[in-house]
Amino acid sequence: MKIARMEAPALDDTVQAGLPENPASQAQRENPQTTAVNMKAEAQPVVLITGASSGIGKICAEHLHARGYRVYGTSRRAAAGATTASDSFQLIAMDVTSEDSVERAIQLILSREGRLDVVCNNAGDGVAGSVEDTSIEEARQQLDTNFFGVLRVCRAALPIMRRQGAGLIVNVSSLGGLVGLPFQGLYSASKFAVEGMTEVMRMEVRPFGVRVALIEPGDFRTGFTAQRRKALAAQQEGAYSERFSKALATMERDESGGADPVMVAHLLERIITSKSPRPRYKVGGLFQKLATGFLRKVLPQKLYEYLLMASYGIA
Ligand SMILES: NC(=O)c1ccc[n+]([C@@H]2O[C@H](COP(=O)([O-])OP(=O)(O)OC[C@H]3O[C@@H](n4cnc5c(N)ncnc54)[C@H](OP(=O)(O)O)[C@@H]3O)[C@@H](O)[C@H]2O)c1
Repeated sequence: MKIARMEAPALDDTVQAGLPENPASQAQRENPQTTAVNMKAEAQPVVLITGASSGIGKICAEHLHARGYRVYGTSRRAAAGATTASDSFQLIAMDVTSEDSVERAIQLILSREGRLDVVCNNAGDGVAGSVEDTSIEEARQQLDTNFFGVLRVCRAALPIMRRQGAGLIVNVSSLGGLVGLPFQGLYSASKFAVEGMTEVMRMEVRPFGVRVALIEPGDFRTGFTAQRRKALAAQQEGAYSERFSKALATMERDESGGADPVMVAHLLERIITSKSPRPRYKVGGLFQKLATGFLRKVLPQKLYEYLLMASYGIA
């Protein structure tokens, strides 16, 4: 198994002093011309996956741990400053809405491993309700987790990866980041924002040896459905109530019957081991991938909107 070139990091003295060295760093220091790290030679890449207490993040963390990576997953509920050894990967505290919390978690990994090779920005949640029913505060919370959370983690990880001259950031978006989903307007907005930022970052960091990609999942069976928040106004009787209820029932049904998140774990590993990751990877049911790609391109916009609304039972 190969991972693209990871040179020995030049860390601050404060970070480097007295730390056990990761075998990956040692191998690359001894052979700086190495273009790939062979995992069989114990050069285990260090991976951070945000939101690994449940769903996609948890499965990805378990899968990569089983494949020999040194995996740190995060949860808001893990004890601050400590690593909880689960059966497999290490679970550490991180709230992506707090810059301090993000910085502390990344420094904890750096102090233990001396490097950070892969970051998967997966933590996220959803708010449902019509755009009109979603308050500015509810919208702000959605963007704070799904967009600013990704930005905070990228800003903390990039200086480390630039110093290493290597690294990979994989941002988990959604098919809802390509197509606006009815009654998930703020969720879609947060993922559209992740898409735009990721496209730009990819070009900016390439000269430093840092690669960036997007994963765009369709519907998956995870804790996402139960965790979804409903905008307060959408929970009261109002102009949108009937259509909102139908759309919400469709979302919940499609997600509950969605694909197994292990698909995403396999995809993440494929991206990590790819020499040159593509900008974006869709993952999920074939029809959903077609509907947000080919069909979106070829169908007239009005027909596309009608079909999308019909699929939510609200045409
Ligand atoms: N499931 C789907 O159908 C689907 C489809 C498209 C995209 N996605 C995306 O996939 C990603 C993972 O979602 P999932 O489906 O696996 O949902 P999930 O089972 O609810 O997992 C979400 C994870 O995010 C963490 N999280 C939530 N808010 C956080 C915050 N403020 N700070 C840090 N961690 C936070 C949660 O950890 P704690 O609560 O322990 O902190 C949890 O581990 C999300 O970005 C989601 O938008 C999911």
